[in-house]
Amino acid sequence: MSSQLWQRKPVEHFELEMKESKLKRVLGKWGLTSLGVGAIIGAGIFVMTGVGAKEYAGPALALSFVVAGIGCTFAALCYAEFASFLPVEGSAYAYSYATMGELFAWIIGWDLILEYGMAASAVAVGWSGYLAKFLHLFDVRFPIWLMNDVFTAKDMISEATAKGTLADLTSRFSDLSFPNFLGIDIAFNLPAILVVLVLTSILVRGIKQASSTNNLMVVIKVVVVLFIIVLGAQYINPANWDPFIPARRTLTDSFGGTHQAFGLLGVVAGAAYIFFAYIGFDTVSTHAGEAKNPQKDVPFGIIASLIVSTVLYILVALVLTGMVNYNDIDIMAPIAAAFGNYGLNYAVFIISVAAIAGLTSVIIVMLLGQSRVFYAISKDGLLPKKTFGEVHPVYRTPWKANILIGVIVSVIAAFTPIDGISKMVNIGTLLAFVLVSIAVWIMRKKEPDRKRPFRTPAIWFVAPMSIIFNLGMMLTLEWQNWVRLIVWLLIGIIIYFLYGKKHSVMAQKLREENGEKN
Ligand code: ALA
Repeated sequence: MSSQLWQRKPVEHFELEMKESKLKRVLGKWGLTSLGVGAIIGAGIFVMTGVGAKEYAGPALALSFVVAGIGCTFAALCYAEFASFLPVEGSAYAYSYATMGELFAWIIGWDLILEYGMAASAVAVGWSGYLAKFLHLFDVRFPIWLMNDVFTAKDMISEATAKGTLADLTSRFSDLSFPNFLGIDIAFNLPAILVVLVLTSILVRGIKQASSTNNLMVVIKVVVVLFIIVLGAQYINPANWDPFIPARRTLTDSFGGTHQAFGLLGVVAGAAYIFFAYIGFDTVSTHAGEAKNPQKDVPFGIIASLIVSTVLYILVALVLTGMVNYNDIDIMAPIAAAFGNYGLNYAVFIISVAAIAGLTSVIIVMLLGQSRVFYAISKDGLLPKKTFGEVHPVYRTPWKANILIGVIVSVIAAFTPIDGISKMVNIGTLLAFVLVSIAVWIMRKKEPDRKRPFRTPAIWFVAPMSIIFNLGMMLTLEWQNWVRLIVWLLIGIIIYFLYGKKHSVMAQKLREENGEKN
């Protein structure tokens, strides 16, 4: 029976499923690119640039964006080849099922929960930070314990105490003390919980993924990012870029661990941190079923959305670190705060509104991506169909999966610091990128004659470079993230042996075929 673990799902099966799919083919290449940009531009640029500069790369944050951008471009070229001949919703899960067999597919599918589910949590925390910034403009303030997890709240207080800027914190929050339960200080991120639950209830009812709403959101985001670059450029003080790469040192993070900052290593560690900003280009592939011409347009959408975002990110990073000394960057809403420092309250208003709207759309994409991956896995029998694949009789949505995802995502967002969550997202996604880059290579060897509407150019170079860059970024993430990743994957493997292996649709087919032979 162990052959089941390595049993590949034939590409022809995927093709058959695609033919049976009832999705309407409405998306062209620019529609797909816009979906990509909509998923990509979010908390990474609006929020994580703060910690990225302050705690990893300093003014050289732009170089971190270059490094992460190169790693993603190599990975994107590998995704594009798969997406061109396997245009199905399961993304990396499906690619590995076709290439490396069931066990690997399950492991990647399980790993993708870190990408989509956890990313939704991280973006929700970022959303909350911008909401606070926005409300502050109107002098509406809440207690610190209602707007942050306990680690972040305490970090903010101790940093402000050390710097003598407690007054600034008191102007942002109505109360700096914590309620206490059985001797434990209580704090949670209420806005993050609320946004996830509200969006989940919308998704349960069925969101008409009107491409026009997404396009509007993308236009708002891109225009505001250009506004940040053009206006911010006028406030750059080149002294803030000096030294461009500060000397190397060891810093403590919010969980009390330590990490390397600054120097060239800090640039690479910064890349592994802000890598989050690039996540999402792969979601273009999950829309293959709605594409008019998936074989050509999906690869185009993946690569074009990545190029647009990379250029914008590098420019924003230069502007931000030029406007504010990296030591003084705000970590909750860095970009809005940078403009606030210059008294440009109208800019804070515009940026906060755009960030709140833009991050909302990223949360939706991530929650949807998660339910699609669950749906694809449950169709293969590796997760219970009743929970993850059941479609609501009226709303026609996988409602149980949506609710389960929403509850878990909101609990994580409520209690975990954004850098802790985003590093888990990053290590998980980087692993998926590495595995997809290996898989595309294996597939070339196993099925050299298969028609590939998009072929990764110079695969002998691109695939290994993707592995080197993405694995390299993974290696700079602190060991605690590796431990968490390994524990997560072990839990996944246990679940596979307890459930998936027995309920696999492929295994069923194998058994039937063997039965027929005997
Ligand atoms: N790239 C997405 C973001 O930055 C996940 O929010």
